[in-house]
Amino acid sequence: MCYAIPGKVTRINKKIISVDYFGEERKARNDFYRLKKGDYVYAQGGFIVSRISEKEAKATLDTWQELFFKLKERDLRFSEKSGNLRKAANRLRQKKSGNSCCVHGIIEFSNYCRNDCLYCGLRHSNCSLTRYRMMPGEIVDLANFSIDKLKFKALVLQSGEDTWYTEEKLVKVVKGIFKRNPALLILSIGERNFKIYERLYRAGARAALLRFETSNEALYRKMRPGHSLKERLELIKKLRKLGYLIMTGFLIGLPGENNKDLLNDIKLTASLKTDMFSFGPFIPHPKTPLGNEPLPSLDKSLDTIARARLMNPEAKILVTTALEALGKNKGLKLGLLSGGNSLMVNVTPDKYKRFYDLYPDHSGVGLDLKKKIDATLKLLYSLGRAPVDLGL
Ligand code: 5AD
Ligand code: SF4
Repeated sequence: MCYAIPGKVTRINKKIISVDYFGEERKARNDFYRLKKGDYVYAQGGFIVSRISEKEAKATLDTWQELFFKLKERDLRFSEKSGNLRKAANRLRQKKSGNSCCVHGIIEFSNYCRNDCLYCGLRHSNCSLTRYRMMPGEIVDLANFSIDKLKFKALVLQSGEDTWYTEEKLVKVVKGIFKRNPALLILSIGERNFKIYERLYRAGARAALLRFETSNEALYRKMRPGHSLKERLELIKKLRKLGYLIMTGFLIGLPGENNKDLLNDIKLTASLKTDMFSFGPFIPHPKTPLGNEPLPSLDKSLDTIARARLMNPEAKILVTTALEALGKNKGLKLGLLSGGNSLMVNVTPDKYKRFYDLYPDHSGVGLDLKKKIDATLKLLYSLGRAPVDLGL
């Protein structure tokens, strides 16, 4: 199992490091290491996550050498044609960022939420949901296992907006992971106090996943009672200024949304200078006020990925689990062939995951994790994608 290929440092310009992967150069930001030319590193999401010995790097690179070039050829074959919107997007993806694909892990550590978003199964008013919280030590152990044993280099720590996790508890979690296993730690904890984000940044977290959900202010207010889009965007901008890499985006097909909104959603994601686009279809949840609303079509979702790619040739675009749920076993593949170049694998234990009920079929309970990881890698290789960092 391998979600990252090490690269060799070729140039250093303060915090911006040029890294070579079999003759391809990518840039990554370095906050944590004293590097020199010739060092070997792992980077993820455009961020240097660890430095490794030459011996270890060469051993890994040796096993990759042949496969790497085979995968490139395969990807090229998949992206030769540009007959329609999605094929054009896939071709552009190949031209601009090659066959690189990021694979991040995600831990859903609590399904409590103080908010009442109309679309979400975790909403506070959903009394039928069994709630859980993972204890800080348990989160740390699972994260360390995911980085150390499962070999993830980037990990999303996600929950509803749950204030039970105080600043102290969250700092303990981030420090507990970061001290033992450096990785790109991505916070997805909602609109918490900015001071908390500051402390977590100091503790080692370097990315924040916070969608703005819709660029339509009126629709936003309706969908997220008691909140405003302005507040959300301000927080995203402040996090970015502090140094967090930003992952953001929107829901496709919210009731009341029109095509112009969707186009504005893509534009807004780009204007926030997002480091990774994260958007996916709205999937009606029966225990929410939107339970009887229609599901957006798979075509609409794939075309949105394609449009986002064509409008933002160099973007990192995540193929989300909601697309996987909508497209059943074809969702990931089609998303990757429509301009997507990043994935997430859920590493939450089944006993919790089954209750992380954002939308129906979200959890993938019962799928053996190792098998799921193998299937994901097999899919990537079948499409000619390699886990090389996409760079900045
Ligand atoms: N369908 C799709 N995505 C959803 N989310 C919440 N509810 C749904 C739903 N019904 C997404 C939101 C949120 C993320 C954690 O989950 O976009 O930001
Ligand atoms: Fe809570 Fe996020 Fe769901 Fe809204 S979308 S109810 S903030 S978990």
